[in-house]
Amino acid sequence: MRKYIVAGNWKMNTTVPEGVELAKAVVEKAKSLPANVELVVAPPFTHLAPVAEALKGSKVALSAQNCADHEKGAYTGEVAVNMLTSIGCQYTILGHSERRQYYGETDEKLVVKTQLALAAGLKVILCVGENLEEREANKHFEVVTEQTKAVLYNFTALDMKNIVIAYEPVWAIGTGKTATAAQAQEIHACIRNVIEAKFGAQVAQDMTILYGGSCKPSNAKELFAEKDIDGGLIGGAALKADDFIGIATSF
Ligand code: PGA
Repeated sequence: MRKYIVAGNWKMNTTVPEGVELAKAVVEKAKSLPANVELVVAPPFTHLAPVAEALKGSKVALSAQNCADHEKGAYTGEVAVNMLTSIGCQYTILGHSERRQYYGETDEKLVVKTQLALAAGLKVILCVGENLEEREANKHFEVVTEQTKAVLYNFTALDMKNIVIAYEPVWAIGTGKTATAAQAQEIHACIRNVIEAKFGAQVAQDMTILYGGSCKPSNAKELFAEKDIDGGLIGGAALKADDFIGIATSF
């Protein structure tokens, strides 16, 4: 059974009190959502424990935006997977294009982080996506295929149950420029084929593949109507509870 997910990536926004308030507003508005849509919020590390408190008893799941590539020890400034699970985190985003671009996140590192996260019992939202140059050079299928294989082909069919893929064309992130539903659908279908080639048809059918990049209430319906788009990874629009929930009610 494929799960529909709308996940909010808050990035480096909100203070802790603002974040707690936002989480509470999401919880309140999420009450009217159908049971087949899972909501996830991914605040900054500093917010995780108080936001976990605010989410208690709700259907909204908690995610980190990243995790360390080591289990513990002398890694100043890093946050380990067992620290995340110890406060009730259920997910972590990995491989967001901002991390790949600004913080040198490589596929090799993402394999290690994914291993650590899964071993700790965290689910992983793995981001893939081409940049503008790659899209203009007509390399988007190739880039996304390679990114998906480079990380996920190191794992098993069983591991795939705890992995969600987010297709986020870099040129659409925070730019107000959304991929058209058709553009997103053809890449999502491609990703599903990449999963099927290694793990079989059932695993591919069950895989949740999210779209991310300027997704908002006004375009979510059209995107989510595509057969291989199973929800969204939302940046800017996740910072307003009404917009976030508006997206989640677009299925
Ligand atoms: P955006 O960000 O919705 O602000 O474009 C999406 C993301 O980066 O996850």
